[in-house]
Amino acid sequence: MATEHDVEGIQQGIRQKYAAVAASATGKFAYPTGREGAVTLAYDPVHLAAAHEGLFAAYCGVGNPFSLGEIREGEAPLDVGCGGGLDLFVASRLVGPTGRACGIDLTPEMASRARANLTSAGVAHADVKVATAEAIPYPDATFDVVTSNGVLNLAPRKRQSFRDIFRVLRPGGRLHLVDIVLADGVPQPSTCSIDAWSR
Ligand SMILES: C[S@@+](CC[C@H](N)C(=O)[O-])C[C@H]1O[C@@H](n2cnc3c(N)ncnc32)[C@H](O)[C@@H]1O
Repeated sequence: MATEHDVEGIQQGIRQKYAAVAASATGKFAYPTGREGAVTLAYDPVHLAAAHEGLFAAYCGVGNPFSLGEIREGEAPLDVGCGGGLDLFVASRLVGPTGRACGIDLTPEMASRARANLTSAGVAHADVKVATAEAIPYPDATFDVVTSNGVLNLAPRKRQSFRDIFRVLRPGGRLHLVDIVLADGVPQPSTCSIDAWSR
């Protein structure tokens, strides 16, 4: 059972790692990142062609949340752990100017990067806040859909994170979650290593 002290230590380690990833994801993961990652994960080439290079620089998603179901014009999606904002950019294109795409991220440098990337992409109907999945800073029943891409494996309080995600979803809302799961448990030395936690 993780103590408050453990949780703060894990989140501090994750913030440090992703502050560096906000500058560039290149060479920091064991899987393809950036534009190559998004192409490998079969994102819609129309959206990728519309994205500028800054949106790819910090991209380190592990799956394609848009392959899991539709996001419709006028809807309100929330991206939990929005990183540098590529998924938020795609969501903002899907909902169009009558919708509003929101993102939260634990790491201030990532949230700043996402804001700057969306502004330079000309997206005005998006918001990014620094926050954790465990305490989402929106009222109950705000969103039609929550997306999350490679984030909840990093969250030390998973049960509380899911509770808060379901709290901000409207009745009948959808969760489009892509993530990493271990089939055989975590090898013992890894449980003590921040690097192993966020690999
Ligand atoms: C794999 S990246 C997300 C990729 C992102 N969706 C993209 O488009 O590039 C993981 C992100 O989750 C954030 N993160 C990690 N733990 C978090 C938590 N508990 N709550 C919110 N964000 C978190 C990290 O700061 C990082 O930006």
